Amino acid sequence: MKNDHHQHLPRQQLPLHHRSFWKNSSNYLRNPKPTAYFILLILTYALGYFTASSSLSSNKQLTSPPSPNDSASTTPTVVNLVTTTNNCPLATSSPILDKNNDHNRFGPVCSTPVPPEIIRSIIINRVYNGTSPYENFPPPHVAELLRPKRVKGWGSYGAVFENLITKTQPKTIIEVGTFLGASATHMAELTRQLGLQTQILCLDDFRGWPGFRDRVDYVPVQNGDVLLLPQFLQNVIYLNSSESILPIPFTTGSTLQKLCEWGVMADLIEVDAGHDFQSAWSDINRAYKLLRPGGVMFGHDYFTKYDDKGVRRAVDLFAKVNGFKVNVDGQHWVIE
Ligand SMILES: C[S@@+](CC[C@H](N)C(=O)[O-])C[C@H]1O[C@@H](n2cnc3c(N)ncnc32)[C@H](O)[C@@H]1O
Repeated sequence: MKNDHHQHLPRQQLPLHHRSFWKNSSNYLRNPKPTAYFILLILTYALGYFTASSSLSSNKQLTSPPSPNDSASTTPTVVNLVTTTNNCPLATSSPILDKNNDHNRFGPVCSTPVPPEIIRSIIINRVYNGTSPYENFPPPHVAELLRPKRVKGWGSYGAVFENLITKTQPKTIIEVGTFLGASATHMAELTRQLGLQTQILCLDDFRGWPGFRDRVDYVPVQNGDVLLLPQFLQNVIYLNSSESILPIPFTTGSTLQKLCEWGVMADLIEVDAGHDFQSAWSDINRAYKLLRPGGVMFGHDYFTKYDDKGVRRAVDLFAKVNGFKVNVDGQHWVIE
């Protein structure tokens, strides 16, 4: 056993290295703040750890959380509930997958769905104060800046559009992210060919994104204002679709929230606005609340270079939280 041969000596007679030890220790005791802080830190950490564990185990009892729609009448078909081997939904096994956690909750129950036939007049009255945005278009100060037709899209003509329109025969389509209307006018043409009376609502702030002009330099700018909306309206008029397409020129989050309040629902919803995880997550969750029974939601960039920016992660997490299956059609994801 290792002995301390200095044990019996008075402190003043101890070798130098032992004296400095005693000096430091007594300083600590005279000034206890750092020690106390350290102990407090450890205690707080331990308390937080045990509290989190107990709330996690209580979350596990939530076997039937409310649907994201908060309304059974607007819940689309659940294709495939992900289950563990003992048949407990996986969605409750982690706080991030718990539907009742704040990051999974997107506002109150939507109003009772209004009939599809009155949706266009609701939007014109509520958003445009009763006057169609196509009326007296284009105003003289804008006319000379526009081209007869300038469309640019990304995956806007994929087979998924025809597949889903044929399948759902939609009376109402909501497009979240429209840009110059490539996919919207394509969908309008498809519904026309099928003889459907479909109203397509195009949600976009029509600002694009910083730097989009590196790719699309033919959209005019006037005093710092990019004229995406006028060029979109011009494209829609040029392609004879103004009766079936209405833009709603605000942010997707605020518009989806309002449509929910107004009871404006859709049979088909395309999500293709912000491509970072947080934007896609918010849009997908809010849009899903607007799906009619049997409706289908889909979106671009599940298999493009943008998927790793967040679209695919958001889609997969949404499907996991809700127990849905993600189908793939070309570059698009589909949840039905
Ligand atoms: C990829 S483009 C849409 C392309 C269109 N779906 C097509 O295929 O023709 C994305 C659009 O989303 C819009 N956007 C992005 N984030 C938005 C937000 N938070 N609110 C409103 N619009 C947004 C942009 O202005 C842009 O026009």
